[in-house]
Amino acid sequence: MKKILAIESSCDETACAIIDEELNILSSVVTSQIDVHARFGGVIPEIASRMHVEQISTIVSEALSKADITMEEIDAIAYTIGPGLIGSLHIGGIAAKTLAFFYDKPLIGVHHLKGHIFINELLKPLSYPLMALVVSGGHTELVYIEDDQNFKIIGTTLDDAIGESYDKVARVIGLEYPGGPKIDKLSKEGKKHYDLPTPKVDGLNFSFSGLKNATLQLVKKLEKNNEEINKEDLAYAFQEKALSCLIDKTKKALEIYPCKMLVLAGGVAANSRLRELVSEEIKDIDIILPPLKYCTDNATMIGVAAFHYLRNNKFVKFDAPSLANMSIED
Ligand code: KG4
Ligand code: ZN
Repeated sequence: MKKILAIESSCDETACAIIDEELNILSSVVTSQIDVHARFGGVIPEIASRMHVEQISTIVSEALSKADITMEEIDAIAYTIGPGLIGSLHIGGIAAKTLAFFYDKPLIGVHHLKGHIFINELLKPLSYPLMALVVSGGHTELVYIEDDQNFKIIGTTLDDAIGESYDKVARVIGLEYPGGPKIDKLSKEGKKHYDLPTPKVDGLNFSFSGLKNATLQLVKKLEKNNEEINKEDLAYAFQEKALSCLIDKTKKALEIYPCKMLVLAGGVAANSRLRELVSEEIKDIDIILPPLKYCTDNATMIGVAAFHYLRNNKFVKFDAPSLANMSIED
């Protein structure tokens, strides 16, 4: 049975996993740098790269020892080739290339968002055409997937990613990075009180900067007037508006591009209200909501996606550059 060793280092998690072709997870190790970046209110790229350097060898050794296998038994090495923070991507790339070179293994460069999408296969086989709502710290995309090699972005954000807006709004109300999960929690205690504008964008695209700025302006105004900010209600108001756009556009996308299945992918897919709204409002389609541990960055997702690359003979050479920006369509 073929086995892949996969490395993920695109942002602030250093991760390594070993999985076999039946998608059994032999080991999965993730270390997060969140505590360090939280002090600065967001990910500091230079610190992230340095921490990846410190962690990567230990994480790979730990994954091998947990899986109780040697490098000789591995059939291919996969790593996140992009998109992400360039310095962070380089570290995982160098580690993967070194292992592939030394042990003479094929090398697979996986698109980070394909990892977020394909990890849903751990729950059930994907049916095509497939619609993916990709919502993370860096991306907000509706992706129409004809088969495992053909991806088409049919909607994207014109400005900020949804996770980025969550993190920014959280920051101004004094919540630590990453703010998404904290806003999710706070808004459960919130109610309809503050009025924020509904983002309006034609077609299937998104825009979150107007909503984000309106939220920040409201906070400023309340502070200026010495009025107390009800954080729960503010989190509620922001979240309801942001998520309603995701739901509306996903519904519209499915009308234009009928699909057999809808999957959620990326960090914001962990949002409890988004999961509730998707289940309640999107009907007549098979839906996969990934378990929370599969929403945020990990290397298992890179390994699962890598098997598609392996089956389609898509390998990279040692001189393949890591790419900070990389379309899922390429
Ligand atoms: O996919 P991910 O781990 O990293 C990227 O590839 O960007 O996503 C991280 C993003 C952060 O912006 C974080 O605040 C957001 O996902 N996030 C959430 C939740 N959990 C994580 N946003 C809203 N609600 C959540 N429960
Ligand atoms: Zn991610």
